[in-house]
Amino acid sequence: MMNSLVLGAQWGDEGKGRVVDLLASEADFTVRFGGGENAGHTLVVNGQKTVLHLIPAGALNPNCRGLIGNGCVVSPESLWREVIGLKESGVDLTPSRLGISGGAHVVTPYHKIVDLATGTALGTTGRGIGPCYADKIARRGLRFEQLFTDDALAVLDAQRIFAQNLCSTMLPSAQLVLDELRSYGQHLQAYGCDVGDVLFNAMQDRKRILFEGAQGTMLDIDHGTYPFVTSSTTTAGGVAPGVGVWVDFDRKIGVTKAYTTRVGTGPFPTEIDGDIGDRIRSVGAEYGSTTGRPRRVGWLDLVALRKAVRLNGLTDLIVTKLDVLSDMPFLMACSKYDNGQYTAMAGFGSIAHIRDWDDLPHNAREYIRFIEDETGVPVTAVSVGAEREALITVPPRA
Ligand code: IMP
Ligand code: MG
Repeated sequence: MMNSLVLGAQWGDEGKGRVVDLLASEADFTVRFGGGENAGHTLVVNGQKTVLHLIPAGALNPNCRGLIGNGCVVSPESLWREVIGLKESGVDLTPSRLGISGGAHVVTPYHKIVDLATGTALGTTGRGIGPCYADKIARRGLRFEQLFTDDALAVLDAQRIFAQNLCSTMLPSAQLVLDELRSYGQHLQAYGCDVGDVLFNAMQDRKRILFEGAQGTMLDIDHGTYPFVTSSTTTAGGVAPGVGVWVDFDRKIGVTKAYTTRVGTGPFPTEIDGDIGDRIRSVGAEYGSTTGRPRRVGWLDLVALRKAVRLNGLTDLIVTKLDVLSDMPFLMACSKYDNGQYTAMAGFGSIAHIRDWDDLPHNAREYIRFIEDETGVPVTAVSVGAEREALITVPPRA
């Protein structure tokens, strides 16, 4: 398995982190190609719960170097704090284990201020992501490689003037902001690298590379539920422009929960209110790992999954959190939005203790086979708990 991609097939928070964590044990590089600290991957590191926002989740494997591509947007302060936080948990990410592209854009305090002033109607994460990408496209962005050059001040001042028009409070001067960015950026300079070049050479050497999607397919700037989306390409087509090398994939895995969640506002065709929704939220601990917000909950949306398969050319799906649906009286899945065409299925009992496909109840196995029928791709694994062993391999249908 040379080049693999792990993507969210829904609205984010599908459990990509655990899939990456597993696959990274067989990878030499693990790469982020878009997004920023709006992402949140919850992992257990040396027995401690850790949430990674910017650092590729696979980089926790000591044999796997993490790379942050030019398609990402990075706050130097947040990245440095993440590096320090990991060091305190015993994971020392020296530049041989982590690299950042000089072309990645710097998220500045102006971006966070603008996001908080303008992003609330969309329910953004408030991390300055949209305003940073907006400045990038408006050619007013500050690239990581520019942070210590003489033009940095003028670029920041242009950002300040733009931001000031949107805010009633007086914004800090560009010089003050630059000094602060550089105080964190100086620690990160050693991590700067040409990610495209590193990956090109790695491919020549037949290294195994794992690309990590952030957010989900339905939050893609072009193909998601616009305008209730994030500001980057979250789908497979974003990889080459986001890392700087053409990639032919051997495997493209879409991760989906056994149901659906979304944080933030916007369309959610299969959303469930009331007791059933509350039950799934509490059993599944569905609260945002970046913002702590309660996630909205719904039935499985097969229309969205089929779109994810088509858009990303997915080779297979991994279904997470099937155990959350234990002991439900019935299950529903939506196969068409027109007139809300749902299929109702019988539920199954508790499955959290099960570790083998053959031991899963008939109805749980049928639910997975139904997803395969409806999406046209195989489900290769299903998770019934947070532990590594709780990811069960699904055999191909006989
Ligand atoms: P932004 O990415 O902060 O601009 O937020 C735009 C929308 O994407 C909001 O609805 C967020 O809740 C959502 N979003 C961004 N990143 C994630 C993520 O990693 N998981 C789930 N939702 C996300
Ligand atoms: Mg998340």
